[in-house]
Amino acid sequence: MAYNAYVFDAYGTLFDVHAAVRKNADAVGADAAQLSEIWRIKQLEYSWIRGTIGAYEEFWSLTKQALDFAFDKVPSADPSAKQALLDAYWTLDCYPEVPDVLAKLKERGAKLAILSNGSENMLEAAVKSAGLDELLDAVISVDRISTFKANRAVYEMTCEEFGLEARQMSYQSSNRWDVAAAVNFGFRTIWINRTKQPDEYRDFSPSFVVDDLEGIVE
Ligand code: LAC
Repeated sequence: MAYNAYVFDAYGTLFDVHAAVRKNADAVGADAAQLSEIWRIKQLEYSWIRGTIGAYEEFWSLTKQALDFAFDKVPSADPSAKQALLDAYWTLDCYPEVPDVLAKLKERGAKLAILSNGSENMLEAAVKSAGLDELLDAVISVDRISTFKANRAVYEMTCEEFGLEARQMSYQSSNRWDVAAAVNFGFRTIWINRTKQPDEYRDFSPSFVVDDLEGIVE
């Protein structure tokens, strides 16, 4: 079945969040991968808590706070690499299949959007640097409504953007918790399980599970 719009999560789904640390792994030291994991999970936790208690702060600020925590938690990591890691976040690599898959969906006449916790300027920079700006019809940041996923209001922004109902849109995310919220909202959903995670949130199952975005257009 063809959907009128395909909406994508940004970080972890289109952009490789661990690319920042990977590119600077030598400077960070032996525990670079652990630092990257902690950085990501804290960035998300801060967004969930702030969304829940109604204390919005831009994702960029949370990203910096999460990196400070990660360096405190991993004393072997060299803090002189911190600025390079933050700078890299503005030019994260997209996963290799992303441009082709977006182009194919666009050729089929679908509208394409990012829906992300990312601050507007972070998303704009990453989209441009990955060369995706021509392919996307909308880049929707939670900045517009000052709350975070998994608040229902975040997913609702897509209906307004495209004048469509949730069931007319397909939502793609590599974050299983984000998929659960999207199922609950009423989207058709696809879980991009890049890192072969075990399933969870079983009462909010996606329509499909694929290894990468190629699975959407096959
Ligand atoms: C985003 C985070 C959740 O892009 O990955 O919204």
